[in-house]
This record gives sequence, structure tokens and C-alpha cells, in this order.
Amino acid sequence: MTNSLTNTEIEARIDDLLSRMSLAEKIGQLDQITDPSPELIGEGGVGSWILASSATAGNDANGGLSVAELNRRQQQALNEGPHGIPMIYGRDVIHGHRTVFPIPIGMAASWDADLVERAFAMTAAEAAAEGVHWTFTPMLDIGRDARWGRVAEGFGEDPWLCARLAESAVRGLQGSDYAAPDRLAACAKHFVGYGACDGGRDYDSADIPPRSLIDIYLPSFKAAIDAGCATVMAAFNEVDGVPCHANYDLMETTLRADWGFDGFVVSDWNGVAELMAHGVAGDRADAAVQGLTAGVDMNMVDGCYREQLAAAVAAGRVDEAAVDQAVRRILRVKFRCGLFDQPLTDPKRAAGLLLCDDHRAAAYQAALGSLILLRNRDDLLPLMSGGQGGERGVSGEIGLYGPLAHARRELLGTWCLDGRAEDVTTVAEALTAAVPDGVRVRTSPATSGDLDALLARYADMNVVVLGEHNLRSGEANSVADIGLPPGQLELLRAVHAQGRPVVAVVLGGRAMALQNLLPYCDALLFGFHPGTEGGRAIADVLLGKAAPMGRLPVSLPRHTGQCPIFYNRHPTGRPHDPVQSSRYADMADSPLFAFGYGLDYTSYQLSGLSLASEQVGLGDSIALQVTVANTGARAGEAVVQAYSRDEVASVARPVQELKAWLRVALDPGESRRVQLTIPVAELAYCQRDFTFAAEPGWFRLRVGLHSGHGDEVRVEVVG
Ligand code: NOJ
Repeated sequence: MTNSLTNTEIEARIDDLLSRMSLAEKIGQLDQITDPSPELIGEGGVGSWILASSATAGNDANGGLSVAELNRRQQQALNEGPHGIPMIYGRDVIHGHRTVFPIPIGMAASWDADLVERAFAMTAAEAAAEGVHWTFTPMLDIGRDARWGRVAEGFGEDPWLCARLAESAVRGLQGSDYAAPDRLAACAKHFVGYGACDGGRDYDSADIPPRSLIDIYLPSFKAAIDAGCATVMAAFNEVDGVPCHANYDLMETTLRADWGFDGFVVSDWNGVAELMAHGVAGDRADAAVQGLTAGVDMNMVDGCYREQLAAAVAAGRVDEAAVDQAVRRILRVKFRCGLFDQPLTDPKRAAGLLLCDDHRAAAYQAALGSLILLRNRDDLLPLMSGGQGGERGVSGEIGLYGPLAHARRELLGTWCLDGRAEDVTTVAEALTAAVPDGVRVRTSPATSGDLDALLARYADMNVVVLGEHNLRSGEANSVADIGLPPGQLELLRAVHAQGRPVVAVVLGGRAMALQNLLPYCDALLFGFHPGTEGGRAIADVLLGKAAPMGRLPVSLPRHTGQCPIFYNRHPTGRPHDPVQSSRYADMADSPLFAFGYGLDYTSYQLSGLSLASEQVGLGDSIALQVTVANTGARAGEAVVQAYSRDEVASVARPVQELKAWLRVALDPGESRRVQLTIPVAELAYCQRDFTFAAEPGWFRLRVGLHSGHGDEVRVEVVG
């Protein structure tokens, strides 16, 4: 079933409903609650049921979903509600449903927009089959400060990469018609600037200059809206003193008037009531009036609208037309969801779909994409090259230790309402199953530093799986130290002291500071929590049955003290002076590993960078050509990245900005000439007078394998 109505027909149906609904029923449409009572449903008092039992980070699975129960209550809304308006069921389906994909920052590490789209399409299909209509995904906050726990849920630090993956996520979740039974309505969140929280502390205020808001924080949302994203969620934080839930300029001017968004805005959990805690609303009535007037249409769980709006309308504090407008936006999405045509979920749809082979295969690919090889001294990895060559391999015994070697739930990452730990194969199980005959994996059942170090002496080489517990990142889980959690470096050092080669595998919910770990490992495989298939993907990468496909979607700092750190910083007036320049006295100011970085089991060379035309007009595209060669012995995929720099602009511009990338699959010895295309419109930015446009002038364009690599050419943009 797809949505059978045209936009005009939908608006006519809404006009008709609005003309018949009471104020109480209208206000009910604006209300989202957990576990609605039969009485409230019967009164038509429930616009939306949020299928969650608490606000934070997917750790309250609450026994999963029951399609029969969801259908039963929906049927009640249809039969008993004054106008039979269906409820819309929302759930946090953030990086997979039963099949869990890597956390979003890990999906971003794949630099594979098609894979991301497929992952979200499969996620939507699974969740929709279990009765979900709408998900609070994708999170499009730019994460420049890895202390913030919710960097796990976003696509990294770069506005352009984030914007492209926002499109993929929305396309994957919604398809071309989100009324289709295997799609969900998406929700771009958190609008806006939530990731710029002071000190990396979740929920803290965001100090964002107006120009950065436009250039850095808004583009991923604009991309999602242009891709047709059905809904938007307001952010908890304030921007420049105005909490987002009361921010008319953001929601009514930018989002709606400027961008043409016609879906609805939902508050975050309790976000309207929290206007009081922000100190801009005196009481719940004031909060409700401010929220609605600023453009928050649906009120998530705090009940302010339900309790307060009728009296506010009666007292003339808010116009009933404002209520009508919010109802219209919500009903519009319900119509587009197909809820009036097909309000119930076929209970048979989930069978055979959840965790099916196709979904597991995609989750495996995505897990490979979330793994980034950062160091590989003397080509220690892969441990076996039998996967593609068979010429060498470790023999005897591999020692396997570390707190995440036997982890299941931890591999699933922060949001995991419907994934199950028992679906996960641990790294230990996967490695043991995958090694060839004659190789033994010795691992202690549970981690104990001393025992592991003792055992490590007898192995031919050792793998230590370290990193963060899933509860260390995600909502409300910011940390002041992004290094390894306590005790882990000590374990690694003890294993290393046994004198055998050491591979460190580090799994994080964020970029982690790994400088002090480097002296104690020969190879370092870093990954973001990789999901259901993570254990298998890690084992296969270690052994060489697969290559690590990931490239960093964030800068990896040396030390927490460098946070926030990001590759697209502005130049300073004193970049070259060895003493009086922007630098630390006790540490390099560069990251440990640059944005875009990641090794492969083969090597690549770029050469012959050229421009199709050295002069382009404002309406043209820049075409860059480069030859990519696979200079190693294995097949692989190079990730070729193009960065721009505006040489002289009306305001200071970033030292470099990602503007295009390509994944290029190459056999050993193969080389190919490829083209990266950058529309000049993509060079637009917020100018001194706050207009958003591209400016004529000279640009430097660099093409490389990461943000610290490559050759440059210059192009002139003429007006
Ligand atoms: C609070 C989080 O900020 C938001 O991202 C999430 O969707 C809601 N809780 C609902 O669980």
C-alpha cells in the first residue's frame, strides 16, 4: 500500500477534519505519550504513542514490540475516537532494529552513501514490520568534540559528509513514499546545534556564532529537508540564549519559511517543560504557549500541551489557529504515512524478515566499513593472507585478550531497543571459528589483566580487544577523558611486555585519544561499535578474509585536551611563527590521525591531478581528474577525497573543506582515471552581509587519500 492521495486531497481531508474536531481533540493530536490508557485513546486524546519507556539511549528495551497489542490499541483509536484518527507510533530506531548496524558514526566511517542508504532501508523494513510508523532518526548534529557522548549517533565532524549521509538516511528510511509498508517517516534531529554543547557535556548550552550556525550546523538539516524528511525534532540546548524549543527564528523562519519544510516538529523528551529549567518560561502554561508559538507542533511526553493549551486558548494567550496549524502539520504526515488507508500492521510481515540473511550480510559490510586500520607495522595484519594469496600466515597460537574480546551487548552500541546480545558472535568466537587448521586461539574466559599477561607469553602473537562499553557513550554519557577506560592501557602494556607482536583492536562510541597506546602495539585497528556482525567482521579483518574498509569521519585527537578538534578549522593570523602561533606548548596541535585517514591491506597512489577547466562560472561545476593506482598485492577500494580552500574571501574561510569523494574499487596493479565533480554552488558560504552564496575568486583544490594528503590545483571562479 502506498499513499493514494494527492497533496490537494490531503489538505482537503485535513480541512474537513479540522472543521469537525473539538479543541480537546485537536490538542490530543499534538500530544505524544508513552503507554496511552484506553480512556485517553477512546477520547481521541492521543496523537502519538512513543514506543519507549524512558528517554535515554535505548537501554530500556521493555520487552520488545507486540504487533497485536499495537494493532489492538490502534483499532480502538479508529473505532472509539470521535473522528477515528489513527495514532502515529514513534520509536528510536537509530542504527538498526533487530539487525543492528554500526552506530551512525561507524556507518559514516564507511564513506559509502549507498551502503548507508541500504542499512537504513533495512532498518525501516524491520521496524515497520513490527508496527513502527516513525523513527527519531537521523541525528544530524555535527560532532566536533568527542567528549560529547552523542557523537556516537551522528555522522561525524564534517558538515558536507554529514549532509550527504543525511540524504542517504532519509532516502533509506522513507524511500520515495513512506506510506509503503517497509518504510518509516524519518525525523531529522536535533534542531539545532546540540553537538556544540559547552565542554562536550550533553544538554549543555551551545555557543555558536551566527555564521557557523549557517555554514556548519544547518547544512545537514537542509539536506535532510531537501531529501523530503517528514519531521524534525527540536534540540534540548539553547543557541545564543534562546532554547531551541522556544526558537521561532529557527523553526518558523529558517526551517519553514526559508526551506519550505511542511512536515511537523516534535519536541524532544520533556523539552517544552524544560523551558522552565532554562529560565525562559515561568510555568507550564508559559512553556506550552512558547513552544507552540515557536513552532513545536507535537509535545513529547511532558504533557504541557495537553494540560495547558485549552486554557491558554480560552484566555487568549494563544490563538486556536495556531493549534489548528500544528494539527494540520501532524495530520499531513499521518496522511503521507498512509495511516488513514492502512492503520494496522500485518502481523505476519516480520517473520523471516528480522535478522534475515540479506540484512545480516549488509550489517557485515557496514561493520567492515566501521573498522579503520590506523597502524600496521611490518604488515603484521592480516594475520593470514590466505584469503587472497595464501603466501604467509601466523602459525601456532594467537592469544586473545581484553575486556571486549568476549563482548556481545557492547558491540551493539548505544541505541539498541530491539537488537539482542544473543544475536552477536563475539570476537573470540568468530576468531576461533575462522582460523585455519593448525592455528589455535587461546583466550581467557573473562578478562583478568594478570592472567592475560601471563598467557600472552606463550602465544606467537597477541590480540587485545579494548575500548568503551556501550554505556560510556550515547545520551547523557559524556566523558571528560576520551582515552582508554581505566585499566586497559595497563593490560595492553603487560601483554606487550611479553615480547610478542601485539595487535590492539579498540572499539569506541566516539573518537578516542590513543597516543599513549601506540608504543604498545604493532598494529592498531580502531572501530566504532560495529553492530550485530561486528565480531565476525573484526575476526575476518584480522585474518585477512576481508579488508578494513573504514576511513575516519572525525579527527582522532592525541589527547582529550585537544577537544574540540576538527580538520576544517579557520586559518589564524599567525600560522607560521614558531612561538607566537596557535599551538600548544606541550603537544602538537594536529590530530593523531587526520580526518579521512585509514589504511588498507593494499596501497594506493594518486597521480596526474588535473582540471577540466581552470576557469569556471558561478553556475558551473569543477571537474577534477586524477589517476588512482592500486600499488599493492590485494584488491581494495581507495577512498579518494577532494578538499577546497577559498584563497581570499570576504570572511575567513576554513583551511580546507571536503567537497567530493569517490570509492574506487581496484584490482592489484590496476589504475584508473576518475573524475570528482564539485558544483561551484557547493562553495557557497555565509558572506559578510549574511547572504549565502559562492563568490568569484581563486580556489585551491586538493585531492588525496585523507585530509592531510594529496596534490593541489588552482581554479578561478568568475562571476
Ligand atoms: C531524548 C533524545 O534526545 C532523543 O534523541 C530521543 O529521540 C528521545 N529522547 C526519545 O527517546
